[in-house]
Amino acid sequence: MTIRLTGVVLGVLLASGGLMAQPRKTNVAHRGASGYAPEHTLAAYRLAIEQGADFVEQDLAVTRDGVLICLHDASLERTTDVEARFPDRSTVTTIEGRTRTAWLANDFTLAEIKTLDAGSWFSPKFAGERIPTFDEAVALVKGKAGLFPELKTPEIYKGREVRFEALVASALDRHGLRGPAADPKTPVILQTFGEETARNLATMKISVPIVLLIGSPGGWDAARVAQWKGIVQGFGPNKGLLLKTPDFVAWAHAQGQTVVPYTFRAGEKGSFVSVKAEMEHFLYTLGVDGVFTDNPDQFPRR
Ligand code: G3P
Ligand code: CA
Repeated sequence: MTIRLTGVVLGVLLASGGLMAQPRKTNVAHRGASGYAPEHTLAAYRLAIEQGADFVEQDLAVTRDGVLICLHDASLERTTDVEARFPDRSTVTTIEGRTRTAWLANDFTLAEIKTLDAGSWFSPKFAGERIPTFDEAVALVKGKAGLFPELKTPEIYKGREVRFEALVASALDRHGLRGPAADPKTPVILQTFGEETARNLATMKISVPIVLLIGSPGGWDAARVAQWKGIVQGFGPNKGLLLKTPDFVAWAHAQGQTVVPYTFRAGEKGSFVSVKAEMEHFLYTLGVDGVFTDNPDQFPRR
């Protein structure tokens, strides 16, 4: 398998190989610069690049007509006006264990989704922002930063004939983002909470690094980390896991895997004086390789 090295992966390899180079810590704009602009809009992605993000994150969903779009939730109602625009198109659906009325993105065509306002919920200033396709996100980010797409809630596509992993692979091919001729200015790292999805990506030799996301702060030890050696190239733990189990970083690094926790956002109540101070602790005391942050402008580069 050919895995193109990104800065973050290279950093760990240099560190574990005993070379003197200082690994570059990675500033990942979480859902774009989502502290300042509506998440997963081109405005948020553009601002993330302006603020110096190394990578711009996309959460991916699949429309009814099989197009990859950038959307965090499986459903549309939190971040768009879908409820007013399509009042009779909801279903009662179970998403991540909770059964509720929802407007699932996968029940709508791209043409329908493109009519929705994805900016007003955040601020009237962003009225008329649209949900971008992954192709549009790539067109904006390519050459300026890396892409960090997440295959989001893969379980909701079971029985819906959606080949999520294959759609992502084709998109990477379409844009020249994997394989030996991949664009060196646009590194790609894939991420998912889905253990089966992570294994599928490894089995199909996706040829870009895979990061396994971890939601629960408990239940991890060195043996469990070791089970993922050779399958994923990194982990994206909830930051609470690392406060509880700081040795997790060393366990992953010992087998050449990166650790990039989430989510660092200004204004959260906690024991740090600022989001910058919190990121400094994780990056330079706990030794993580990068962070997902809503505030890429606050990233403490050294
Ligand atoms: O993907 C890293 C982080 O974004 C995971 O949490 O829910 O914001 O996708 P979420
Ligand atoms: Ca995510």
